Amino acid sequence: MTSLRTLFAAVFTAHIVSAYNFPYEGVQLKDSDIGDDANLAFGKLPPGTIPKCKNYPGYAGWPSSDKWDALDVALGGALIKGIPPAAACYDGEYKDAMTCANVRRRQTDALFVKEDPVVPFNQWQLDNPCPVPAASESLPISDCSLIYFPAYVVNATTVKDVQLAVNFARNNNIRLTIKNTGHDFVGRNTGGGALQVWVHPMKAFEYLPTFQVGNYKGQAARVGAALEQWEVFSYMGKAGITILTPGSPTVGAFGGYMQGGGFSYITSKYGLMADQVLGLEVVTADGRFVHADPTENADLFWAIRGGGPGNFGIVTSAIVKAYPSTTISRSDFTIQTGPVFGNSKTTVRVDDETFWKAVSVYFSHNLRVNDAKGIMWNFIFTEAPSRSQPRTFTLLNQITKPGVSVQEMKDLVAPLIKDLNDIGVPLDNPEPLFWETFADFGTLPGGPNGGTSNSRLVSRLFPRSNFEDPKSDTFLKSMAAIRSYVEEGGYNFHSVDFAPTYETAGYPGSDSAVSSHMRNAVMHMTGWDNRQYGADITDEQWKASYARLASYIQKLRDASPGSGAYMNEADVQEPNFQDSFYGSGYKRLLKIKKERDPWSLFYAVTGVGSEEWMVEGTRGLPTQQGRLCRVGA
Ligand SMILES: Cc1cc2nc3c(=O)[nH]c(=O)nc-3n(C[C@H](O)[C@H](O)[C@H](O)COP(=O)(O)OP(=O)(O)OC[C@H]3O[C@@H](n4cnc5c(N)ncnc54)[C@H](O)[C@@H]3O)c2cc1C
Ligand SMILES: *[C@@H]1O[C@H](CO)[C@@H](O)[C@H](O)[C@H]1NC(C)=O
Repeated sequence: MTSLRTLFAAVFTAHIVSAYNFPYEGVQLKDSDIGDDANLAFGKLPPGTIPKCKNYPGYAGWPSSDKWDALDVALGGALIKGIPPAAACYDGEYKDAMTCANVRRRQTDALFVKEDPVVPFNQWQLDNPCPVPAASESLPISDCSLIYFPAYVVNATTVKDVQLAVNFARNNNIRLTIKNTGHDFVGRNTGGGALQVWVHPMKAFEYLPTFQVGNYKGQAARVGAALEQWEVFSYMGKAGITILTPGSPTVGAFGGYMQGGGFSYITSKYGLMADQVLGLEVVTADGRFVHADPTENADLFWAIRGGGPGNFGIVTSAIVKAYPSTTISRSDFTIQTGPVFGNSKTTVRVDDETFWKAVSVYFSHNLRVNDAKGIMWNFIFTEAPSRSQPRTFTLLNQITKPGVSVQEMKDLVAPLIKDLNDIGVPLDNPEPLFWETFADFGTLPGGPNGGTSNSRLVSRLFPRSNFEDPKSDTFLKSMAAIRSYVEEGGYNFHSVDFAPTYETAGYPGSDSAVSSHMRNAVMHMTGWDNRQYGADITDEQWKASYARLASYIQKLRDASPGSGAYMNEADVQEPNFQDSFYGSGYKRLLKIKKERDPWSLFYAVTGVGSEEWMVEGTRGLPTQQGRLCRVGA
């Protein structure tokens, strides 16, 4: 017999269980922790007057060291000073020969940077404040501007840590930044004089054979916010399932990647990462810890999925869709104008004229491959002429599709090979690579790897309509712009051609903040500057190099009118970023932003509402090291 008491207990327990995903989320900030400490109090609406500038080290409003010490005590010692590892190479209290030697060796290693609480991958975003001196450089040198880094970092291992950071930053009018892996191309993950929340410790995974929310019923997984691609591959292998992942091993799967959209090798079949999300655990700007899903806090749930990283709250975990294990296959070939090295079975040499015809033929198969739920991934490399070699061009192709056999993959590629043969490219249909599972496909033999670079990125989304008719003006104009970008510009071209349509997104993915431009796109093109934006270049060199790159990406924009760019792999100076990155959802996002974060606590460059703010003292460069102030206030 079920008594009322046990029934109540069961309901109550169920509620507790569904309230959060992992034990680290059970540790939350309580009123009794706060007492009457105004620094740690939760936010109340209305927000009152918003000061013109955020407090910055050295200015009158900056908290005293006693206040910082008190925060550290409340955090149980999780507050870290924002000291970059390269400070060890400079005279002063952080000087340390061993640490400096280690930084010299590892500064461009992704595995090093993602484990560091302070430095972002692209240090130009902070105006290269503490460059690692070359081994030949003699000491003393004294050019490490510590003030340009986040001032303090909260090493967040619990929800309570995140709440304390959010409340302290908001109550003291300090800039708040969030670092996960630090991969961001735009500079949204860092800022001078900020209190930075480092979510990196939030790693956890649980497979859910059945899960139900709203209209969804099926497999799912609980995922900690900080899991990286390689960790997700490892977990999905053990569970025998498929989960969407980013393309590179150390990119976070559920941080900025998910919040900006997030495409994968399997996106044309399963959608974007934002489309996988069924529930979110979030600390909002008022410091409260909330659950968001299609039925609860639906505004946040809508905005965080695709509405821009670090803009609406700090995500501590999510529940995402899982699918049965799938096969996956890939067809690789290379067409080039230079001498053939490497695999002579899948690499052919052609003359310049045939090369550019082949590029057009290749892209004329974009829609066919996308509609068959495959993706195309390619580079067009160029090499400047040398005395012994003429200018060379290389088209590197990978076509990938989940859920196929080797023969089905060959059949998918066959019409493309035939068309290439017809214009004089002597290529046989390559023997595809094949993996029994997506986990096998993604698990690298030597573990995760990767490097960092300090160049600038530009990008463009090309819509479906550009590829519908290979004889149309729009298609020809697209091809001409790509050719000019490579041939005249001398830049390398990269595109990933996937189709995250509303239909593929399904439920609840199709109703999210993912940009309308992204939904209509079948090609995401990226390019980058040949120059590294290090401390060794002058502002004039920086501006000239960027202006040249911008003039070539403009041709790609002109060839795709009315489209936009993918915010996670984009130019920080993208013109009209509001439409380009967010599409038709921007107005609604701005409304939610004002309601949920009237303090502009979660500022991020190119984020929703960021047009109201500027960084001081950047000499016209799009960097984040200075004091953050409101425009025209
Ligand atoms: C080598 C490389 C490969 C890539 N491959 C792909 C790819 O295949 N597909 C793709 O779509 N993109 C790809 N990207 C782009 C990637 O989506 C972005 O770099 C993204 O910003 C990475 O997110 P992160 O959380 O790992 O990095 P971070 O730099 O730590 O964070 C990025 C942004 O997200 C915010 N953020 C992070 N975690 C949280 C959180 N828990 N709560 C709230 N805000 C948070 C940060 O504040 C910041 O604004 C790649 C990038 C690189 C450098
Ligand atoms: C962050 O916190 C974890 C858990 O307490 C600890 O193991 C780790 O060393 C800390 N990292 C840094 C850089 O302090």
